[in-house]
Amino acid sequence: MTTIKEQAKTHGCHDTTPTIAVYPGTFDPITNGHVDIIKRALRLFDRVVVAVAINSKKTPLFSLDERITLISTCFTNNKRVQVESTSGLIVDYAMNKKACAIVRGLRAVSDFDYELQLALMNRKLERKVETVFLMTGFRWIYISSSIIKDAARHGGDIGGVVPAHVLHALQKKYSG
Ligand code: COA
Repeated sequence: MTTIKEQAKTHGCHDTTPTIAVYPGTFDPITNGHVDIIKRALRLFDRVVVAVAINSKKTPLFSLDERITLISTCFTNNKRVQVESTSGLIVDYAMNKKACAIVRGLRAVSDFDYELQLALMNRKLERKVETVFLMTGFRWIYISSSIIKDAARHGGDIGGVVPAHVLHALQKKYSG
């Protein structure tokens, strides 16, 4: 898949600085909706750094290392995706990574208020980093990590909304 910058190059526009975006989230666990956002962000940026961040309001089911492994497994053959953890401010992390943008996915109107607040606070903290919103793919609009965990906990069929290795990891967590 070619990035927009690569397409621009074919039209004679040359810029050798790689464009980097940070995609932060809790990813407890990664879902097909997150994978979709990452793949689409790769069309806009040369590299995407998936930052497994700490949300103080959440108590994750998967450890930090488990979440990183589950995300990395989705992109084992893609050198343009890097997966790391971060514990401080996301804008500081983005600046450290020389990223020009923070990518966030929007699912529904209900996401908007919180995302607007987050984006405005991040902009107040660091104006050099833009927030870029991508609309979540229609097929993934209704899912969230919590809803998927809840369905899995009660033995529901969650095939098709998470990658196969994530499905196995969830079944393992809830089987014993
Ligand atoms: N498809 C499916 N689900 C999606 C989705 C998509 N495309 N995009 C978001 N979601 C779901 C997630 O699964 C998650 O579900 P859950 O609440 O059931 O776990 C929910 O939407 C939103 O979570 P997520 O996008 O993972 O982010 P978050 O709200 O947990 O993360 C941080 C917020 C980590 C990015 C934010 O707290 C942060 O930046 N922390 C670092 C400290 C900082 O800089 N704070 C900001 C300064 S004010």
